[in-house]
Amino acid sequence: MDAKDDLMEKIVSLCKRRGFVYQGSEIYGGFAGTYDWGPLGVALRRNVVDNWTNAMQQHEVALLDSSIFTAGKVWEASGHVAGFSDPMVICNSCHTKLRADHLLEIIGVVADEKMSEAQINAIFDQHRDKLHCPVCGKKDFGKVLAKSLLATSTLGMFEEGDAQVYLRGETAQGIFINYKNVLDSGYSVPFGIAQVGKAFRNEISPRQFLFRKREFEQMEMQYFVAPKDAPRVYEEWRKERMAYYDQLGIQKEKLRWKQHENLVFYAKDAWDIQYEYPFGWSELEGIHYRGDYDLSQHQKFSGVDLSFYDEETKERYIPHVIETSVGVDRTVLMLLADAYTEDKMNGEKRTVLKFVPRMAPVKAAVFPLLKNKPELVAKAREIYSMLKKEIPQIVFDDNGNIGKRYRRQDEIGTPWCITVDFDTLGDPSTSSGQETSLKDTVTLRHRDTGEQERVSVAELHKLLADQLK
Ligand code: GAP
Repeated sequence: MDAKDDLMEKIVSLCKRRGFVYQGSEIYGGFAGTYDWGPLGVALRRNVVDNWTNAMQQHEVALLDSSIFTAGKVWEASGHVAGFSDPMVICNSCHTKLRADHLLEIIGVVADEKMSEAQINAIFDQHRDKLHCPVCGKKDFGKVLAKSLLATSTLGMFEEGDAQVYLRGETAQGIFINYKNVLDSGYSVPFGIAQVGKAFRNEISPRQFLFRKREFEQMEMQYFVAPKDAPRVYEEWRKERMAYYDQLGIQKEKLRWKQHENLVFYAKDAWDIQYEYPFGWSELEGIHYRGDYDLSQHQKFSGVDLSFYDEETKERYIPHVIETSVGVDRTVLMLLADAYTEDKMNGEKRTVLKFVPRMAPVKAAVFPLLKNKPELVAKAREIYSMLKKEIPQIVFDDNGNIGKRYRRQDEIGTPWCITVDFDTLGDPSTSSGQETSLKDTVTLRHRDTGEQERVSVAELHKLLADQLK
């Protein structure tokens, strides 16, 4: 096993052990492509979503929460029914279903999911003799088939009987079909609409833990802009989105730009921000200049006028769309991989998740020095309750010795540990002799350096809140 596989395994195991992420339907043997969020995962995911939403709201961007079920025509208009597919190939020997473009990628041949079935078959045939099944090692594949990614379901109780419906393949379409509603409720071009929500895809080979799931969550923003301004605004959003990862504390050298080589016919330009995951460089976020394709299609299929009259220039046009689209799951996986560190502290090996404090699922842990001293426990509980009212992501821990508690908190990325000891109580019979000056102070221990400082209980909240800003 190489170091990268090893890192991925360590992350998956930590996630399960500490309650970040569990395999979906685990007690029934698991259900491929699905994962469930545990208590710490929910907190981390929520921090990701809140941070993204706050960043979007620094701009003229409205929020939306559209339905997962939509009229079928939405997906016909968007082009998903006809052309949202991945190239699938089946190994004739072990019957594993594989992505043809991923197999070609292994031997350095570029073929992406946007190519037609005929195009990709031609490339696949050209390289057939070099392609091995990664599961059984044989070189025996069938034809490449375009497999639709749209997941379907059935809804009953319609007059005409049960109806087949699509689970949304991306949240963006909910934004396009509500563009006019939001515009009419008090916005004007240029403006954006942002939404966070579940999307579903029949992924042929869900893999790499949270990276490629069948049910996942997207954070998408469509910015509607006058055609003449679109190229400039596109560049502004590209810059903005890369800078965003800086304030998330992501290592700069692990992020890079990758331009799409095969643009879909309507796209004017498309770039991905890639992150170097433990399994290699892969797409984290897409920033796409989609022209007027989406609104024009929905105008055509719905018969509703989606043009905008610009009072300033006296022009009528269909706004162009700049899209930023990133997965919550891929962001969480990046945060975990980027934060995962093994080091030594006081001669002892430890695992630590070095999240920026704002992202940490637990912000601080409050400890009584000794579990069996009721006066210490009572004081620690009092401080814990006081802080928790202001900063909910705080925990109380009195299990095991202090060293063990530090290790446990380091492993989940808790930036601060607060210990209540006899000096805090200021009792002359038990404290270290500095009882009067140390009364109502606690030890604040910093995760990354292990440094400890004495701070007053009265200042504690402000001190943490300032660093969480
Ligand atoms: N509206 C554009 C769109 O959906 P996409 O590149 O297919 O574009 C956007 O998806 C983002 O959604 C990706 O960059 C990725 O972060 C996330 N994503 C896509 N498919 C995913 C999957 N199967 N599992 C987890 N995240 C996924």
